[in-house]
Formats: sequence, C-alpha cells, structure tokens
Amino acid sequence: MDPVRNPYAPGAGQRPPELAGRDRELQVFEVVLERVARGRPERSLVLTGLRGVGKTVLLNTLRSQAITRLWGTGKIEARPDQSLRRPVAAALHMAIRELAPQHRAPDRIADFLGVLKAFALRVTESGKVRDRWQPGIDGPAAVGRADSGDIEIDLVELFTDAASVATDVGTGVALFIDEMQDCGPGDVSALCAACHELSQTGAPLIVVGAGLPHLPALLSASKSYSERLFRYQRIDRLDRIAADHALCAPALREGVEFESKALDTLYDASGGYPYFVQAYGKATWDHAPRTPITAADVRVAAPEAEAELAVGFFGSRYERATPAEREYMRTMAALSTADDAAEAVPTADIAKALVRKPASLSPARDALIKKGLIYSGERGTVAFTVPHFGRYLRAQPASD
Ligand SMILES: Nc1ncnc2c1ncn2[C@@H]1O[C@H](COP(=O)(O)OP(=O)(O)OP(=O)(O)O)[C@@H](O)[C@H]1O
Ligand SMILES: [Mg+2]
Repeated sequence: MDPVRNPYAPGAGQRPPELAGRDRELQVFEVVLERVARGRPERSLVLTGLRGVGKTVLLNTLRSQAITRLWGTGKIEARPDQSLRRPVAAALHMAIRELAPQHRAPDRIADFLGVLKAFALRVTESGKVRDRWQPGIDGPAAVGRADSGDIEIDLVELFTDAASVATDVGTGVALFIDEMQDCGPGDVSALCAACHELSQTGAPLIVVGAGLPHLPALLSASKSYSERLFRYQRIDRLDRIAADHALCAPALREGVEFESKALDTLYDASGGYPYFVQAYGKATWDHAPRTPITAADVRVAAPEAEAELAVGFFGSRYERATPAEREYMRTMAALSTADDAAEAVPTADIAKALVRKPASLSPARDALIKKGLIYSGERGTVAFTVPHFGRYLRAQPASD
C-alpha cells in the first residue's frame, strides 16, 4: 500500500502512531502530578525495561502530561563518563523558562537563574580549568548557593530553589532522566539524596528516570533507602490486545484493516516488543497490495523487516563491541536457548564454555555492561538488554 501513508514508526525514541498498553502508567503519573503540586508526599518514578520497549517514548509522553498541567519540565540523557552538572543545569533552565510566563515576580526568576549559573559553572571536579563553556544565562552567578563543588549538597540546594519557584505558581518541576543507568556513582547518590530531601519537605519537584532493568539495583547499591524513594515501573512488551491495538488503530485511520490471522502472524514475529511491532507493521504495510492485510502479506514482508532490524536494531549494537566482547556475547547466545532476552546465563558457564578463568572475562563483561548491551539482574548471571539478541547472534555466521 501507499508507503507515503505508512503510519508505523520504528526507530529509537520515535513517537508511535498509537501509544498502546500504557494507560496505567499514564494514570499513575496524573495522580503523582496532582499530589506533588498539592505538597502531598509522593515518590519519584523510575521506568525500567529492555531496549526498544518504549521507555523513551513513554518518558516523552509523561513530559507532555506535565507540560499540559503547566509544570516546568526538562529532560536529559545521561551518558557514561559525563557529569550531570551541565545537563541538569540546562534542563532546569528549560523548566524555569516554561514557568516564567506564569510568574509575577521577575526577580525571583532572576535569583534562581543566578543560582543555576553558579551551579553550572562549578565544574572543578572535572579538573578542567580553562573551559569556555557558558550556561547561556545573562545575569551574574549567585555566590554561596549550589556552588560548593559537592554535587550532593549543590543538587539539594538547586532542586529546593527550583521547587520554590514552582510553588509560587502552584505547579511543580519535573526532571526527566533517560538512560539513567549511565549516571556516574557520585551523581546517582546525589540524585537519591536530593530526591530524599525534597520528598521530606514536600517540595514540588520530581525526578522521572528511565533505564535498563538493573537500574533499581544500581540505585539501591547507592542509597539503601532508594527502594522507598522511587516507584519502579517495569515497562514490558505489549500483551496481545495492546499489540493488536498498536497496529490496528493507526491503520484504521487510513481505512486499512488486518485479518485476524495476519495479527496472529505479526504477534508471533514481534513477541509484542514495541520496536518490533513497528518494524513488522511498517514492512507489512509496504508489501500488502490491498486492505484487508492477510497473513500471507505478513510472511512476504517479514524478511524485509528482519533485514532492517538486523542493521538498525541489532547490527548497530553488535558493532559497538570489540572482538573479545563479541565472543563473550556469542557464547552467551549459545548458552541461552530461550528466545527471550530475559533469559539469564550464569557467568561461570560462560567461562567454562570458553575454557577461561572467570576473572579473566570480567573486563569483557564489564565493558558490555557499560555499553548497555548486557546487564546483570541477579548476582553471577548476565542477560541481554536487547530483546531477541540471542536469536539474532545464533543466526550470524560464526566467523568475524
Ligand atoms: N506503547 C507503544 N505502542 C506502540 N509502539 C511503541 C510503544 N512504545 C514504543 N513504541 C515504539 O517502539 C520503538 C522503541 O521505543 P523507544 O525508543 O521509546 O524504546 P526504549 O525503551 O527507549 O529503547 P532503548 O532502551 O533502546 O532506548 C519506537 O519505534 C516506538 O515508536
Ligand atoms: Mg530509549
């Protein structure tokens, strides 16, 4: 059918034509926003899940929800080896700019921007002395607030001041942190401490994080109270009804329908993983000659969807690994016969299969965790963060 009208959107962070199966998360967040704005005790939210389940897309939708309620919002994507200071400063700058038009006292905004500037410019931890970076705030930097150089103290002060600006206008501030598992240990513990402090005073600022499945473990290793501090929401693959809805609703808007056998075949192929739902939906649309779309149409289109996934979803990640890391992952794949990414493989088995000492494999394992390709959910095991990655690797030719 007409590729120009193809509604499906495979791609990292691509807004889906229909956000299926996330009603509960959206409702929970509505309640959180309402409670926080009223100064009620509420926990910050953390979304966790495998690659391609729709964490980024959901985070963006939650952000829109907050904006609709006239909250100030900002978003960052954490990166390994990057301090949070500048991205957080930029995100809160954005949030306060959203709040400023509602605010009646411009000097309160100016005062906050002064603190923000002081916070942003305090980068001595990185050791870079000569650095021309500027936060894009015209006024002078404040002195003596959020500029101690200790990220934990500074973040508490900065968040407190941002929340107080939001209190003036009767809303709140939401800071969204994607790829939160990539925050450095110091930053994670500072974030926990700041959230802890703010939740005790009922200040209207929340952090909404998203990351890989081991993020809760990282947070609780950092601060033992983090389990009570965050509300964890596992973002998973779509159930059959939601997956069908993700495909059918956008098609129907274009006057196109699926035969129920076609939906069976599509669910078999995608396993309900949102990224795959979009990829198979897109290829099927392009190949189907007419409505209704049949199971045969899906089968004809599947190789194209798989070819695109092999390049865009799996291949791009596999290429980030060194030869030693690839060998490690191939061994993992060979040992995990389940198609599900959730299948955890004992690291001892990997060492045994490679006839190596477990300790000698630690560098490869740690590097793969850092690259976000595998994670360790339970002690002594590893699993792929990418759904169907084991299946993909097993289908690859052995040499390379
Ligand atoms: N609820 C949903 N219904 C339908 N499609 C969705 C849904 N959520 C996400 N998608 C689609 O899935 C794909 C992946 O979404 P997204 O990039 O948000 O995943 P992610 O969990 O952030 O992945 P990663 O861990 O790689 O960052 C996108 O193409 C998006 O359109
Ligand atoms: Mg993402």
